[in-house]
Amino acid sequence: ERTAALPRDLEGHRLVVSAGGTREPLDPVRFLGNRSSGKQGYALARLAAQRGAQVTLVAGAVADLGDPAAVDVVRVRTAEEMREAVMKHAVDADAVIMSAAVADFRPATVATSKIKKGADEPDSIPLIRNEDILAGLVQARRDGTLASSTVIVGFAAETGDASGGVLDHARTKLARKGCDLLVVNAVGDGKAFEVDHNDGWLLGADGTETAIEPGSKSLMASRVLDALAGLLVPE
Ligand code: CTP
Ligand code: CA
Repeated sequence: ERTAALPRDLEGHRLVVSAGGTREPLDPVRFLGNRSSGKQGYALARLAAQRGAQVTLVAGAVADLGDPAAVDVVRVRTAEEMREAVMKHAVDADAVIMSAAVADFRPATVATSKIKKGADEPDSIPLIRNEDILAGLVQARRDGTLASSTVIVGFAAETGDASGGVLDHARTKLARKGCDLLVVNAVGDGKAFEVDHNDGWLLGADGTETAIEPGSKSLMASRVLDALAGLLVPE
């Protein structure tokens, strides 16, 4: 769709895009996972490549999606594997887009054999927190492990609640995460997960706030890449 009209504005830039959900093992046959399909990250990776970028897609568990053309795909399972892959490829990248649904927690221990019913069966699963990859990227840029020009983009799926609306939560998250751009999806009522449409906002660290009209995930991807292109340091 629209390939002929696409700008080549990402030519010469290297991007890392993470996509999909992570799976945190519990025993050899079970994991904790989430409903992320990976569609948004794949749409970003595909479009970025079409706009001339050299793209590494770090893919967790995704729906049955074909590999985007001309994109290097690195497959990972757990949040820790995703962190290692993202950090490794970020070193050579001009921008990193964290569209993956990284599990916040993992089982504190992984049983080496299948957990069975019976006298020893567990009644709960102790969890420990996974490292925050996005925060790690921001920290690495601060440390100088990543170039100061590396653009870091985060995603947030938010619902409104008693303490504030979607945008209030998103502004707080942008400040807390310290990334350059936060892509905000309004969720709830079947939005964003397992569907082909999205709507939300783009919040910039410079205070800019742009609404993204409801539309396809490729429309969302093109808005994100437009904003990203404006932040990249020309080669
Ligand atoms: N993220 C990450 N590593 C994690 C968790 C999240 O890199 N361990 C990234 C996601 O890929 C996303 C951004 O952080 O780009 C925001 O994720 P989100 O789940 O909205 O934020 P959290 O900080 O985990 O906050 P919450 O408690 O609301 O889930
Ligand atoms: Ca989270």
